[in-house]
Amino acid sequence: MTLVVAVIVLILLYFAFNFEPNLNTLLLRFQLDKVADPTKIIAGIKLVLFGILAYIFVRALGFLVFGMFRLRKGFDAPTLVRNVFSIVAFSLLFLLIFSFEFPNANLGALFTTSAIFGVILGLALQDTLGNFFAGISLQADRPFQVGDVITVGAQRHTGVVEEITWRAIKIRTFQNHIVLINNSSAAKEPIEVCPRDNLNARIVYFNTLYTDSPAKAIHVVREAVREADNVSSRITPIVRIRDLGESAVDYECKYWLDDYAKYNDTDALVRQRIWYAFRRAGLNFAFPTRTLLVERKHAAEKRAGDGGALVERLSAVDIFAPLSVEETGMLAHAAVRHIFAQGETVIRAGEPGSSMFVVHSGRVRVQVNENGRPRPVATLNEGDFFGEMALFTGEPRTANVVALEETEVLEIEHAAMKRVFDTNPDLVESLSFIISERRKGLATQVEAEDGIEDESAGILSAIKRFFGLS
Ligand code: CMP
Repeated sequence: MTLVVAVIVLILLYFAFNFEPNLNTLLLRFQLDKVADPTKIIAGIKLVLFGILAYIFVRALGFLVFGMFRLRKGFDAPTLVRNVFSIVAFSLLFLLIFSFEFPNANLGALFTTSAIFGVILGLALQDTLGNFFAGISLQADRPFQVGDVITVGAQRHTGVVEEITWRAIKIRTFQNHIVLINNSSAAKEPIEVCPRDNLNARIVYFNTLYTDSPAKAIHVVREAVREADNVSSRITPIVRIRDLGESAVDYECKYWLDDYAKYNDTDALVRQRIWYAFRRAGLNFAFPTRTLLVERKHAAEKRAGDGGALVERLSAVDIFAPLSVEETGMLAHAAVRHIFAQGETVIRAGEPGSSMFVVHSGRVRVQVNENGRPRPVATLNEGDFFGEMALFTGEPRTANVVALEETEVLEIEHAAMKRVFDTNPDLVESLSFIISERRKGLATQVEAEDGIEDESAGILSAIKRFFGLS
């Protein structure tokens, strides 16, 4: 098309030059000499034709120059540069043709007059010109080129630069939207540039459980990531611990991309590779957790610790004095330790009970409720025992037992005591005596005055019954 126009213009020019006298006559016949000097009209026609030729020439030149630019650089020159080139080249050519066709025209005066228009025009086109000059300065600085990924503007738009025009930078975002950012506002904002021909890096985060070896995690992830598409083979990815988090070891994987414009896809692929690599290597991703260590040791475990001290404690208890070392050891093994704070109730009157206690450390007070008020009956210290009444008779607890300070007690269950009784019949007798004595202590003033007959024999037979002893 351009070629056809050029040929037509050339033919017209040929006619204009060769048939100038005939044209003159034609203009005179149509009385156009009254409008303007016919020679000037012919010169004007020639100027227009030359102008068209000049335009075609500039376009062809631009095509050649920017075609070579594209061949050498691999991408198009910015539109702004192409446009400025065309305007400057065309203006120069036009002025040349103009001075050739109108040698007597005073160009200086023309410029003076146009300067006034220039001021008016300049004020009207302030913004447009601002964008234009900002565009030129962007081109002069060349902070980025078509194809680079940039983040720019107050909204932090990120995308691939598609064009830099008179007015704006055109970027295509990763959602495939076109965003136009005014050159003047872009010139004022910080611009983050990831050049096309640069090895740009990305960072992907992941974590592992604290039980997973960091050396293994780092190795596994590095090897998995370096083989992913678009991850540059020129630099090995870097995997490192970035934080020892609350519930995970936090890592970062830094890798470099061949084509940065595809970083979203590559990030996703890298995360996918990490997942599969983890699966194969038996590594685990951590998620926010809070580990609650509830120490509810099995009774046997509790008994196991500090066994020597318990045997020592139990052998110091007077009712266990007749027991052999093995029997005391068996009792110690069966004993369960409990700790109570000051003021806590170890035993509550009226409740059923199937175990007895030895004070391992601290002090307790035995008290009964009288007229709604506690009446202390006895204070028991380290090595003393309590709770034997309910255990041996099968009756409910006779009194409250409260810790007077932080107190540790050893609890011995019915089964352990039965084994001891089986081999130590004397023990039953001494216990029945103690129980009968304690009962006296529990009696109210009135009962005491009435006198309680010796119950020891009754208690003894009750214990024997309860434990099935002969
Ligand atoms: P039990 O009845 O099982 O529960 C309350 C415990 O308090 C009781 O066993 C005895 O071990 C203890 N107890 C009751 N009266 C006295 C006392 N007078 N002296 C010492 N200890 C007592």
